Amino acid sequence: MTPKTFKIKSFGCQMNVYDGERMAELLGEQGMSAAPEGEDADLVVLNTCHIREKAADKAYSDVGRLRREDGSKPLVALAGCVAQAEGAEARKRSQLIDIVVGPQAYHRLPEMVAEAARGGRPVDTDMPAISKFDALPKRRRANPSSFLSVQEGCDKFCTYCVVPYTRGAEISRPWNDIVDEARALIDVGAREIVLLGQNVNAWAHEGRGLADLIRALNELTGLERIRYTTSHPADMNDDLIAAHGDVEKLMPYLHLPVQSGSNRILKAMNRSHTADTYLRILEKMRAARPDIALSGDFIVGFPGECEEDFKATLNIVDEVRYASAYSFKYSPRPGTPAAVMEDQIPRELMEERLERLHDRIGEHQLAFNRSKVGTETQILVERKGKRAGQMIGRTPWLQSVHVEVDAQPGEIVNVTLVAAGPNSMSGAIAEKVAA
Ligand code: 5AD
Ligand code: SF4
Repeated sequence: MTPKTFKIKSFGCQMNVYDGERMAELLGEQGMSAAPEGEDADLVVLNTCHIREKAADKAYSDVGRLRREDGSKPLVALAGCVAQAEGAEARKRSQLIDIVVGPQAYHRLPEMVAEAARGGRPVDTDMPAISKFDALPKRRRANPSSFLSVQEGCDKFCTYCVVPYTRGAEISRPWNDIVDEARALIDVGAREIVLLGQNVNAWAHEGRGLADLIRALNELTGLERIRYTTSHPADMNDDLIAAHGDVEKLMPYLHLPVQSGSNRILKAMNRSHTADTYLRILEKMRAARPDIALSGDFIVGFPGECEEDFKATLNIVDEVRYASAYSFKYSPRPGTPAAVMEDQIPRELMEERLERLHDRIGEHQLAFNRSKVGTETQILVERKGKRAGQMIGRTPWLQSVHVEVDAQPGEIVNVTLVAAGPNSMSGAIAEKVAA
């Protein structure tokens, strides 16, 4: 039976969120509609993440839960990076899966769904030379803050990471396609655009780089804010740093993962920077934009990490004073060089280090938020809060702010930040600025 309703569940990174939105548009164009909240769907797409073992396992436990009480099941599509990594093997782990579609092939989803509805079991994990983006419909819906993928894949081969295998080599979408998609998003309500890529600052097209693209987007009427994520230190060039100093709509926020503070570990990770070269980039960034909020990623318990290496990580956290940061326990991934390195770290030790790192990051996060108390700023309203009349928006520094204001998502509001917690702020004295 041809499915009429669908549900798409995305896990992992923002690129998956973007891909999920595009798949929804694609299925919508075929006459299917999203199943109402809480209701069964005829087709369930699990858009999965393979970055750590826990995320990958979650994909299969979620598939298992799709069997209904009466023994029936929806059509099940395994999409995203687990699909890419496992291909046809995925079905050996779960018979419930009908479709396996990788992140570079999802433009073929409608025909694969039709094939599965006829009883077929299609698998597509190709990485075709023709861009899937050309086969996707025009944007018809946008959030106040909308994602726009501009770059995919990774050539860096950090020794712990599956991304170069699941997302393939670095590719950049063409300039015109991006500007057209940005315009389309603005037309349907985007006020902020977040440019996405696994190595977004490696974006390049016909001699132009990400800074040029940001400068061009800055000229688009109706767009108020520009962000980009995630960046690699090796591609953080002076042009992009300078853009933070003089491009009005580029927000003062940078997510620049360092992973470890120990040069010995950074080398074993095949990161192309040292703690020092990383800190020098941030120094330049702070010179260009003194109020920039800095964010990063950390891995604890990489093979061979000793207490001294871990202390170097705590030191770099103190030195940078991150406004926010994400930390993860090292997870060995099949096929990556680090998975077979000697001196894998016991789980309890990783957990202990993760907790210490987490606490340290939390202290800086709270300090950063507190440093903004009393500041008058603008928030982009994104959604309703839990309490009546309360809305939630984001500051230029990406902090969530709860404020009582009569405003709709997409509006920009003047607020004074009055209180700070580790994860959010409260605002007061709200006044609308722009619709
Ligand atoms: N184990 C733990 N964390 C990982 N990351 C990437 N690969 C692994 C892994 N094998 C983290 C890195 C990266 C973020 C997206 O996920 O910190 O920046
Ligand atoms: Fe993975 Fe390193 Fe590439 Fe980031 S830069 S996606 S961590 S290989």
